[in-house]
Order: sequence, then structure tokens, then C-alpha cells
Amino acid sequence: KPQALTFKLVLLGDGRVGKTSLVLRYVNNVFSEKQEATVQASYLTKRLVVEGVPITLAIWDTAGQERFHALGPIYYRDADAALLVYDIMDTDSFIRVRNWVKELQQMASKNIIMAIAANKSDLVRAKKFDLQEAESYATLIGAKLFVTSAKLGTGINEVFLDIATRALQK
Ligand code: GTP
Repeated sequence: KPQALTFKLVLLGDGRVGKTSLVLRYVNNVFSEKQEATVQASYLTKRLVVEGVPITLAIWDTAGQERFHALGPIYYRDADAALLVYDIMDTDSFIRVRNWVKELQQMASKNIIMAIAANKSDLVRAKKFDLQEAESYATLIGAKLFVTSAKLGTGINEVFLDIATRALQK
């Protein structure tokens, strides 16, 4: 039986923005209010079928704390895709996404697939967040923006499916 296609995906973003929570919601359908900070990185896989093709996503969830920043290249160097995560309530975490993108553009594979997750959308009342800046930024870098909540489970399948679909088409 032929091995399923495997794509390597790395999650990058500031500390506490919800990277681990997004992965655990996607892979295990769980959420914890007390999710602990990731040290260095952790690894999980998820199998899915895209347009009839079985795919394995090899997911590297990296630590967002600045003291682990220098480890980034180990995880994104040969990645097919990067999911850049920020906290929708926290402007600084969006700036951190821009910095990661600049670094990826210089250091990662030229055709790395990028997607951006604006996470913790459940914390915003009445959907009052302004996504215009983030959306035009995503377009500029050839990425798509997804509004997610690891807590509620919204937007999660969509963002990982987008990444898998684009990886398959590459
Ligand atoms: P580092 O490992 O430090 O890089 O953090 P991280 O980006 O992996 O964040 P993590 O998943 O550990 O979540 C940090 C905190 O935010 C935890 O208390 C989570 O419960 C909470 N959190 C994560 N996602 C959401 C979300 O969508 N909504 C809400 N309300 N809280 C969330």
C-alpha cells in the first residue's frame, strides 16, 4: 500500500496566542483554558483526505516565547507550509506575525505556503474586530486569513484544509 503524501507544517507566532490550542483542537478536538506554554516544540500528525487523496500533515507546534526564537529555523527550514498565528485582541502579536513572515521570506523555502490565523475570536463581542489590515496584509504575502477560535472550534478545519489543499496543488 503506498504511503500517504506527507506535508510538513510549522506553527509560528507569539507566546500565548493559541498555537498549541489550535493544533489540539484540530487533531484531538479538545481545548484547555490552562494550556501550558510549549517548550521548544512539539509534534503531532493528522491524516485527512483532500479531493480523494490521503494526506498526512506533520505538524510542528513551536514555542512562541522569545527565548526560543533562535530555534525557528530548525522547524521551518524544510517546511512545506507555515501557519502564522496571532491573538485577535493583541496588536503586538500581529506585528510578530509580520516579523515571522519577513524571516520566512528570507530563510525558508521560496515556495512555502502561508496562512494566517486570527485566533481567540470568541473574546471579541459582536464581531467588532477590524480585519481589513490583516486581510490586505495576507493578500500581499499570498496567504489567506482565517478567523479562528480554538475554544469554540470555529475556523479550525478551514485553515488546515486550506493549507493541505494548497500543498497538494503545489
Ligand atoms: P506558547 O506555547 O507560549 O507559544 O503558547 P501558544 O501560542 O501555544 O498558546 P496556548 O495554546 O498555550 O494558549 C495560551 C492560552 O490561551 C491558554 O490559556 C489557552 O486556553 C488560551 N487560548 C488559546 N486559544 C484560545 C481561544 O481561541 N480562545 C480563548 N478564549 N482562549 C484561547
